[in-house]
Amino acid sequence: MENKHENHENREQWGSRLGFILAAAGSAIGLGNIWRFPTVVGQSGGGAFIFLYLLIIFVIGIPLMIGELTIGRRGKRNIVGAFQKIKPGGPWWFIGALGVLAGFVILSFYSVIAGWGIAYMFKFLTGQLTGLEPGQSADIFGALASSPVEPLIWHAIFMAMTIGIVIFGIDKGIERASKIMMPILFVLLFVLAIRSVTLDGAMEGVLWYITPDFSAINIQTILGALGQVFFSLSLGMGAIMTYGSYLPDEENIPSAAMFISLADIGIAILAGFIIIPAVFAFGLEPNAGPALIFITLPAVFGSMPFGNLVGALFFLLLTIAALTSAISLLEVPVAYFIDELKWNRLKASVIVGIVIFLLGIPSSLSQGLLSNNLFFGMEFLDFMDFFSSNLLLPIGGLLTAIFIGWVWGTRNTVDEIQKKGVHFGLRSPWGIIVQFVLPIVLLYILITGLIG
Ligand code: PFF
Repeated sequence: MENKHENHENREQWGSRLGFILAAAGSAIGLGNIWRFPTVVGQSGGGAFIFLYLLIIFVIGIPLMIGELTIGRRGKRNIVGAFQKIKPGGPWWFIGALGVLAGFVILSFYSVIAGWGIAYMFKFLTGQLTGLEPGQSADIFGALASSPVEPLIWHAIFMAMTIGIVIFGIDKGIERASKIMMPILFVLLFVLAIRSVTLDGAMEGVLWYITPDFSAINIQTILGALGQVFFSLSLGMGAIMTYGSYLPDEENIPSAAMFISLADIGIAILAGFIIIPAVFAFGLEPNAGPALIFITLPAVFGSMPFGNLVGALFFLLLTIAALTSAISLLEVPVAYFIDELKWNRLKASVIVGIVIFLLGIPSSLSQGLLSNNLFFGMEFLDFMDFFSSNLLLPIGGLLTAIFIGWVWGTRNTVDEIQKKGVHFGLRSPWGIIVQFVLPIVLLYILITGLIG
């Protein structure tokens, strides 16, 4: 993170507003938008899910992001230490501990999926995915994901890149790369969406995607939408809080949160416009789960000129988007071990990274060798995803809202937001949301979602 200078508390800061926005948007935008969002939409009834997702982002996601950034800026340290600093002596460090755990769990399977993406980049470059029928692309994906060794190599490569960046800091290369790559990713997604919605038979998918069928909504879809919002916005585990800890006091936190969230929504909705219409056009099943984009996309690329090159470029951009998220996932536990256990950055990054790699192995094997070993009725990868996104993150969000609303206090939080001349016009509705709406709604969804 060399793009920061020191402030009076001797903590580095972002050198520019753009640097912070890009890093936070880089954490938010990743596999959650391009891989997970279409997957969950496909499993949960299309348009009705989108409606819930947007509602939850505006009522829960953005208010919580404002809160997390503000705790981070006030705490100015790793997430366990931040809670201890704001409320010394209380049990609130526990929220930070849950976040450290979530960092381990999420990155372990995140890296497996990102590894599949890297593999696809090479398969496109070497022409192994040329001109496939949808049925064939399902077979090729199945062969890759179920192999006991190959996906582990890609998983190791992705973890090694993530560890490398977290050790050496976000050097000029990666920062410059993401400044250039993110706009290219956006344009490419746009082009692909147009290709996809103009495929023969795609209209049925477009309608399914944009027409809310409210009868498809039940407590499980609501829990799923909640998990998707937390996962996609990097909320509930201190990743955004950690980035907030490097913020200067002049930064307008509410408007930054709005910008990051809108960028994140835009990419997710666009990814849905690529995948869902193509699923219908090629007669595939929308509920194919984690494999969905890897089966659908090769068929889309196969239907366009220079499909191999476009495919390779797409998976290169996906890998970079995944990397900028993965570093924020790894940074949460690494910052904890550095600050609280006094490990150096090299030791913390390598040890935590290796443990996460090992933890990812069963997720990878669950797509092949271990596919019959179910956890609570789910394959291990799905279980890890469910456990972290639908439980750990919302629980972290619930406790954070209680902390802000009832322990630190919304007034103190608003004072921190407005410290240097920033005017937070919506502070009253925001306060009511954080104090009452967030705890009640989150508790309700968690309890009924788990029982029902
Ligand atoms: N938001 C990232 C994505 O959508 O891919 C994943 C993620 C990053 C989740 C950081 C949680 C987190 F703390």
